[in-house]
Amino acid sequence: MGSALVPTTYNDKVVRQFLAAAVFWGIVGMAVGVLAAAQLAWPALNFDIPWLTYSRIRPLHTNGVIFAFGGSALMASCYYVVQRTCHTRVFSDKIATFTFWGWQAVLVSAVITLPLGITQSKEYAELEWPIDLLIAIVWVAFGVNFFGTLVKRRIRHIYVANWYYGAFIIAVGLLHIVNNIAIPVSLGKSYIVYSGAVDAMVQWWYGHNAVAFFLTAGFLAMMYYFVPRQAERPLWSYRFSIVNFWALISMYMWAGSHHLLYTALPDWVQSVGMIFSLILLMPSWGSAANGLMTYNGVWYKLKTDPITRFMVMALVFYAAATFEGSMMAIKSVNALSHYTDWTIAHVHSGALGWVAMITIGSLYAMGPRVFGQSEMYSTRLINVHFWLHVGGTIMYVFAMWTAGVTEGVMWRKTLPTGSLAYSFMDSLRAIHPFYIIRAMGGGLIVGGMFVMAWNMWRTYAPARVSGIEPVAIPQGA
Ligand code: HEM
Ligand code: HEM
Repeated sequence: MGSALVPTTYNDKVVRQFLAAAVFWGIVGMAVGVLAAAQLAWPALNFDIPWLTYSRIRPLHTNGVIFAFGGSALMASCYYVVQRTCHTRVFSDKIATFTFWGWQAVLVSAVITLPLGITQSKEYAELEWPIDLLIAIVWVAFGVNFFGTLVKRRIRHIYVANWYYGAFIIAVGLLHIVNNIAIPVSLGKSYIVYSGAVDAMVQWWYGHNAVAFFLTAGFLAMMYYFVPRQAERPLWSYRFSIVNFWALISMYMWAGSHHLLYTALPDWVQSVGMIFSLILLMPSWGSAANGLMTYNGVWYKLKTDPITRFMVMALVFYAAATFEGSMMAIKSVNALSHYTDWTIAHVHSGALGWVAMITIGSLYAMGPRVFGQSEMYSTRLINVHFWLHVGGTIMYVFAMWTAGVTEGVMWRKTLPTGSLAYSFMDSLRAIHPFYIIRAMGGGLIVGGMFVMAWNMWRTYAPARVSGIEPVAIPQGA
């Protein structure tokens, strides 16, 4: 493969743009999360202003962290990885620029419309139809650029990270389009074509697979590239990574009904969701083990390299969150956990533990390379960020586990007469201290994100003066 006319450098400009966006949106999305957490502890913090009400702040947080922070980081790393593993420049620079500005336009539209209460009322698919159309266009363009780069690759082999990025791009496009089919009645209002139990099923097929392909497959792609890179060792087992890929993508699509246990959904559909969720533990732990075992022989890096700490801790949380998820999908466990803060603990052990930590580790690994530096401005500040993030995450997750189990147990306790032992207010009073601990943990995490922004800015500073050396594409293969 290859031709004599290939350009000689990578397009790292788009990587830098998405990287900066990821750090920026990380601060915004998580700060809004802290506000939501604080409002749950002290409801007066909505100041009786409609656009600050909890119901509008919450989707702003979820969209901010998943699509703005996570999405920008995924696109940054995808453009970085696909060019390097294919030894070629991205398929089209123009499309790359379009995906960056198009995606940012989507995010800015979300920041404007969600606080105004313009919403489809579908979780993680709140944005109204004009924005949905823009998402679809940007996503297809991103797909064309990614697969176009694979086609013009100069290495025969397609590295495993690209398989995961490919699955992430195809599945997210499919989910987004099917779940958002709606009939518009005005610019800011539409009606989804599905109704009743079918609507619920389509929504949670989407919601669950947004977790699977956005919050898992995409970040596994990051993990499969940056963990061996940071460990400076080959992946523990390449064959195992391929087995896990096919197992993961074939299982995940069938597990969505675990979000709808004990509902109007047919019982057998609920059981299918539960069984597939249990089997899903195997490929999940497979990838976690593969990443962790890659560090065999270089575990000393945990002492010397805070980026390694982020990555290893991310893998530990990935294993923990997926184990927890499989257990929560068991109907009798879900009867206790559903509607309680246990679900929120699970979400954030995945989101803050796995997604945010693998992202932060990868951004620190990528940052100096795309800013033309040999290393980050300050390793000590990465370490400070690590402890702020881990401390905050542990406070958050432990507080919500305790709150969740307390709620679950209190709600099902009955008196000998058969009436409920506690009112809802009793349970709310019992968990109030944990809501405060969660908000404080969130504060530490946002503090860590500011430290990261400063460190990135200082790493970029020399390049602002002297310019960034373009990185040459290796020849051969
Ligand atoms: C400073 C860090 C964060 C704080 C303080 C925070 C806080 C919150 C709060 C208060 C809620 C609402 C809980 C409820 O309704 O009971 C929430 C929901 C959620 N957050 Fe976060 N969050 C943070 C970071 C993140 C990150 C990094 C992600 C994803 C990458 C994330 C994903 C989510 C999701 C998906 C939900 C909805 C959960 C559900 O509906 O079950 N959060 N967060
Ligand atoms: C083997 C892997 C996993 C399984 C089987 C699983 C299973 C579950 C179950 C049973 C629930 C509770 C549903 C309910 O009662 O409403 C849930 C909720 C959730 N999980 Fe997982 N989980 C897994 C991994 C993950 C990971 C790695 C993440 C995040 C990065 C994640 C994010 C979420 C979110 C965001 C929700 C809340 C959805 C909502 O109600 O809004 N899960 N998961």
